[in-house]
Amino acid sequence: MEIGVMTKLIVFSLLALAAPLATASAADSRPAGGLTPAETIAARQAAYGLSGGAMGAMKAAIDAGAEVKPMTFTARMIGRWARTLPTMFPAGTDIAPTHAKAEVWSDRAGFEQKAAAYAAAADKLAAFAQANDKPGFAQQWVSLRQTCQACHDAYKKADD
Ligand code: HEC
Repeated sequence: MEIGVMTKLIVFSLLALAAPLATASAADSRPAGGLTPAETIAARQAAYGLSGGAMGAMKAAIDAGAEVKPMTFTARMIGRWARTLPTMFPAGTDIAPTHAKAEVWSDRAGFEQKAAAYAAAADKLAAFAQANDKPGFAQQWVSLRQTCQACHDAYKKADD
């Protein structure tokens, strides 16, 4: 008992010491986790590629007439990516090899609005998946796909 209390005291003391250090290092860290612009561009392009793969997998499930409930996780993760997406376009990442148009930075509000519409559509898709509603899921997949296209039309250059 006595030793248990001592251990707790020591652990609490160490945590109390560590807390200011953790705060200091978080405050000192650079935006986007200290990634270089090239690393940030590579990370967002990879995430976009994965989201494209996820969309393809969901379309294949629809076309095969499969149960859509197993797609709940995938649809939810697209929603999470959609909410993270604007943070992946910090200042200074408007350089090659990006395909983002300058409007991402000059019309930030519009870009974020497109990302929000994308997130809302993905959340709705996840709800249809959760309910295993096949027709609803198929219809909402098309709506979600349209939010991809709407943003690309305004903010993404055609691939070089
Ligand atoms: C809010 C805007 C927005 C939405 C919504 C959006 N995209 Fe994009 N997408 C972009 C921009 C901007 C780029 C260019 C990124 C770059 O090259 O830095 C891009 C690039 C891509 C790429 C190319 C990645 C590469 O390898 O260069 C793919 C694939 C892609 N998007 C798929 C999708 C799919 C699929 C969806 C919907 C499920 C989607 N995007 C929704 C803005 C968006």
